[in-house]
Amino acid sequence: MAMTGVLRPGHAQVRVLDLEEGIKFYRDVMGLVETGRDEHGRVYFKCWDERDHSSYIIREADQAGIDFFGFKVLDEATLDQLEADLQAYGIETRRMPAGDLLETGERVRFTLPSGHEMELYATKTACGNGMSMVNPAPWYDESEKGIAPLRLDHALLYGPNIAEVKKIFTDVLGFFLVERVIGEDGESEAAIWLSCSHKVHDIAFAEYPEPGKLHHCSFLMESWEKVLRAGDIMSMNDVAVDIGPTRHGITRGCTIYAWDPSGNRFETFMGGYQPYPDYEPLTWTFDNFAQGLDYPQRKLHETFLTVVS
Ligand SMILES: [Fe+2]
Repeated sequence: MAMTGVLRPGHAQVRVLDLEEGIKFYRDVMGLVETGRDEHGRVYFKCWDERDHSSYIIREADQAGIDFFGFKVLDEATLDQLEADLQAYGIETRRMPAGDLLETGERVRFTLPSGHEMELYATKTACGNGMSMVNPAPWYDESEKGIAPLRLDHALLYGPNIAEVKKIFTDVLGFFLVERVIGEDGESEAAIWLSCSHKVHDIAFAEYPEPGKLHHCSFLMESWEKVLRAGDIMSMNDVAVDIGPTRHGITRGCTIYAWDPSGNRFETFMGGYQPYPDYEPLTWTFDNFAQGLDYPQRKLHETFLTVVS
């Protein structure tokens, strides 16, 4: 087996200003599948093609934003090893008890120098994707409801000390750098795209003075046609759209950015290429970032740089 260590983005917990409004949006417009509610008032969702219990969790709060982002690792032994590796690197970790998140085992929580809460976990109840494990159909009627993404794909987070964050992901957690934007000084990295897999990114960070900010959580669509259909559904439901439909130069992904009713940006995304760990990272210069962001329009959308939750 080639894939070990950190497998994939597993879950994000995001704050919404009005829980009922959030539930309605993520269930009916985004088309996520509700899988549970807990005693803390949190509501759990998964994308229809995900097999684990939950990937997107919302809770009501006075301020929008992200509480934490979690990666699933191969197994409990891997979790123990990565916890020890983080501690040996000088990062304080703490264990969140099994069951604190519904149907989820112990999580190893740590704070990045960017101010983001990250976690690793090995166990989450598999509840399937609604299709048989034997002779499965490719989709089912309900899987076409709303935007209906396939999975939680990645997140872009804004905060300080991105150079330090990169070291933790590449030196400790086994990620590799796929693409980067060089800052105005011509040397430092203003933004980085990191992969733990064959995907063009599993997480990305941009340098930003305020810690712990969410730029977007991204949901994977099956095709460009499905991204356009997502745009139709956004318009039908008066969703505030930020950018797109368009293609990023960076990652080659095809995208729409929009906001949930609380002001958390999300992305409906498809495409990109398949990097390997031996690939040399691609570099975008600061003066050409507009093309990296929006390849056909070559437009440096101000909101991309300044609006976060
Ligand atoms: Fe993205």
